[in-house]
Amino acid sequence: MATPHISSKKEDIAKTVLMPGDPLRAKMIAEKFLENPRCVNEVRGMLAYTGTYKGKEVTVFASGMGNPSMGIYSYELFNFYDVDEIIRVGSCGAFKEDLDLYEVLVVDKSYSVSNYLYELTGEEDKVLSSNSILNHKIEDAASKLNISVHQGNVFCTDVFYNQADIPKLRDEYNCYATEMETFALFSNARKLNKKASAILTVSDNLITHAETSSEERQNSFNKMIEIALESII
Ligand code: HPA
Repeated sequence: MATPHISSKKEDIAKTVLMPGDPLRAKMIAEKFLENPRCVNEVRGMLAYTGTYKGKEVTVFASGMGNPSMGIYSYELFNFYDVDEIIRVGSCGAFKEDLDLYEVLVVDKSYSVSNYLYELTGEEDKVLSSNSILNHKIEDAASKLNISVHQGNVFCTDVFYNQADIPKLRDEYNCYATEMETFALFSNARKLNKKASAILTVSDNLITHAETSSEERQNSFNKMIEIALESII
């Protein structure tokens, strides 16, 4: 079996999938954290690996950047590969001064003006929730690992170089940060009756203009990956 974008066999994809945006990060996560990882997709360079973590089978599949790309891969994984749950593991730009670089945000709701859900289902909702069962497991895993996490909403944008009204997004929608993939992921989960959540690491702060280097980013992501993997076993 294959889709236009995924060449994996059905049995090569686990029921639980972690989705970083960057294909090379998918490779790094698989090589550093999984036992017996094997590459299961290379179509368009959207690398995916399946292996085990403490005996549990898991696939790490890159989403690419933005709702359209995340929309394609998460839809195909849920709908054609019978994936049950997807946890996005990515980065975000903070809207709050006290959200420091490298801190971890567990996404409560995704607010977006994207048309993704409308085109998918005809529904006009602009605020979508992550899955509360997954979120409880994520919080339990974080507290067992002694890693403190924030829980809040994100503004999911289709336009990286936008002119967002940050104070309004923060004060009216309680958005702690911005990123570009959760709205499509949560839309697909809602339509297909599956579970999806997101754990994000702060890579830059849009108020203080603090930024991580790409090398620092890589290391800081480890905390988030440990939380995600411990939450699914
Ligand atoms: N904007 C959108 N997505 C992001 C950002 C940002 O500033 N930082 C990390 N992902």
